[in-house]
Amino acid sequence: MNPRFFRLDSNDSSLLLLSLAHAIPTVVYYGAKLRSAVDADTLQTLTSNAIPNAKLDGRTQLPLLPENSRGFFGEPGLQGHRNGGNFTHQFLLESVEENTDSLCFVASDNSAGLQLNITISLHALSNVFSWKHRLTNTAKTEFTVDYLGCPTLPMSLAMNQLTTLHGRWGKEFQQQTVELAAGRFQIDNRRGRTSHEHFPGLILSEGTTGELAGTAIAAHLGWSGNYRLLVDNISEHQRYLQCGELLLPGEVILKQNESYETPVLFTTQSDAGLSTISQQLHQFARNKLLPKWTRTKRPVHSNSWEALYFDHDMDKLIALVDAAHATGAERFILDDGWFNARRSDDAGLGDWQVDETVFPDGLHPLVDHVRSKGMQFGLWFEPEMVNPDSALFRSHPEWVLQCPPYPLLPARKQEVLDLSQPELFEYLFYSISILVEQYQIDYIKWDMNRDTLNAGSGQQASQHKQILAVYRLMDALNKKHPKLEIESCASGGARVDFGILEHTGRVWASDNIDPIERIDIQHGFSLFFPPEIMGAHIGSATAHLTGRQTTLDTRAIVALQGQTGFEFDSRKLNDEERATVKHYTDIYKQNREWLGEARLWRLPSIQECLHVCGMVSADQTIALWTVVSNGSHLQATPGKLNLHGLNPDAIYEVTCLNANIDYLAHFGKALPQWMDDNSMSLSGELLMRIGFMLPYMPPQTALLLRCRELSA
Ligand code: GLA
Repeated sequence: MNPRFFRLDSNDSSLLLLSLAHAIPTVVYYGAKLRSAVDADTLQTLTSNAIPNAKLDGRTQLPLLPENSRGFFGEPGLQGHRNGGNFTHQFLLESVEENTDSLCFVASDNSAGLQLNITISLHALSNVFSWKHRLTNTAKTEFTVDYLGCPTLPMSLAMNQLTTLHGRWGKEFQQQTVELAAGRFQIDNRRGRTSHEHFPGLILSEGTTGELAGTAIAAHLGWSGNYRLLVDNISEHQRYLQCGELLLPGEVILKQNESYETPVLFTTQSDAGLSTISQQLHQFARNKLLPKWTRTKRPVHSNSWEALYFDHDMDKLIALVDAAHATGAERFILDDGWFNARRSDDAGLGDWQVDETVFPDGLHPLVDHVRSKGMQFGLWFEPEMVNPDSALFRSHPEWVLQCPPYPLLPARKQEVLDLSQPELFEYLFYSISILVEQYQIDYIKWDMNRDTLNAGSGQQASQHKQILAVYRLMDALNKKHPKLEIESCASGGARVDFGILEHTGRVWASDNIDPIERIDIQHGFSLFFPPEIMGAHIGSATAHLTGRQTTLDTRAIVALQGQTGFEFDSRKLNDEERATVKHYTDIYKQNREWLGEARLWRLPSIQECLHVCGMVSADQTIALWTVVSNGSHLQATPGKLNLHGLNPDAIYEVTCLNANIDYLAHFGKALPQWMDDNSMSLSGELLMRIGFMLPYMPPQTALLLRCRELSA
């Protein structure tokens, strides 16, 4: 039984693990699917290191849970102690459950009184692997867990390009690629939510990897709280990747038979470039993660926020509903401002009762009007928050996460509620539930507008419990109201991750809906998430966050990359604008069903300012391509566009779907010849190999192209 070897194969990837001398297994191969059979002895021979000079005398491993006690000098997978003792550990493999799509290892360190369960599962179709650890204290005394990483994965030194996502409010998902050298790259997030600052995911690739070719591995921690991602370079073991939850001091103290489970780490790998990596993650999310309702026709939203902000008034709202309906909206969302004392962001959070001074008959006249138009109704909540200026805080100041005697640190004049307190949890559940029933609410925009600090509950750190309680509250509401849809919003995109997506199903990627800014935001988002779950609203001519002015065509074409909606004030549209918006929402409605299963291709840049991405239907009969310019191209013409992902043998009709194309050629003398008839028919092979000319594209213009198979 020694060495022991374990294998998992998905459609395109293989994972091989080896356990020597009953130690926790080590990943010895994670890459393209292997056709050859392998055995444990061969693997041991192939992967046993040289023993270098000036190092330990024996060979060392880099197992799923690296242990200092076995000669590992990097970040130990487990850091904890029993009142100062048992600070180091050494687990022995006890049993393994092997299935075609999962491996479950049980290992114990009897002298430390600890048991470790390691679970690796795979989704064969999407090539996504899920990894997690669970630690159980089997001894009588308490064991303090300071850190338990998810399974650690060795990485080749050739994978020296590291792509991560960063940002701030209004500028989320900004891509950064750095070249790794010696030392460690580490992201520690302590903001109590997924955060604008960093995204809990990364992509490692080779220098030659691009969108359409090359080797890459993506890893994403599905967790909406504090976390650490690290890629370290250690001379005995080349490079390794480790991710895990960052625990606050004393947050997890296990009594006998109690366990701590890590969040799930999701990974996927490919030799076919970054777009394929993204497609695999999208397919996984669609098939395994997201609620079923995300697979149905996604309605066009009209949201009241940028149209009215806190200026809630029944007449204005009714007029907004009428105007939004005339422009194609199918769901009306009443954003922040409807509840007690909420006339600005100074007060009211926590008091989830309709403000009768503004709505004397409750929300009924509005909801009835929305329904009379055949539209659905959605409502904004921020359940985890309270304003000190609220009835809730005045009667229950003890319901706030806090560390007395230190003062509270307000942000947007609000504090974070301690959801681990059962009475508060019940209050939130019932106050939201009553409204869902009373108004038959179809959808909740669940916001979370501040970072969490000093997450104390009764003098104990409670950040870990807080996140689990948020998930539990969402689950309780989903269970009670099976048709309810929840969107995750956190000052825009500060809570988007695979953890929250198990409980919600649509996300607000950013408060910034300036289409030019959106290019990068949506690009970064699309690396990990399927586009159809991203709210993408058309904003006003002058973007509220940036002051940039753009045409309606550009705003609408960029918004078509997600679940389209309106944030502008539909009441202010003139007839021509209304027709333009209608034109694009009709395109969204005609295509949304296949878009929900589409493959997304990000094409390499033709010129720096041109950004091209396309959605191709799963059966390759139809595709929508977007070309957006965020500057002036250097060449006199943008050049040739070579499409990707089409069926080479099919004949496609290519059509420009822009409502207005004149604006594409302000200073150009003519459009490319194929656009004279605004349509051409060509094989997929020629569209991909020879390509075709793009029109002159001044800054801030966008082009929407459709390829439709003629025989289909
Ligand atoms: C956050 C959201 C916005 C809006 C406001 C309301 O900033 O991201 O979309 O809902 O809160 O206060």
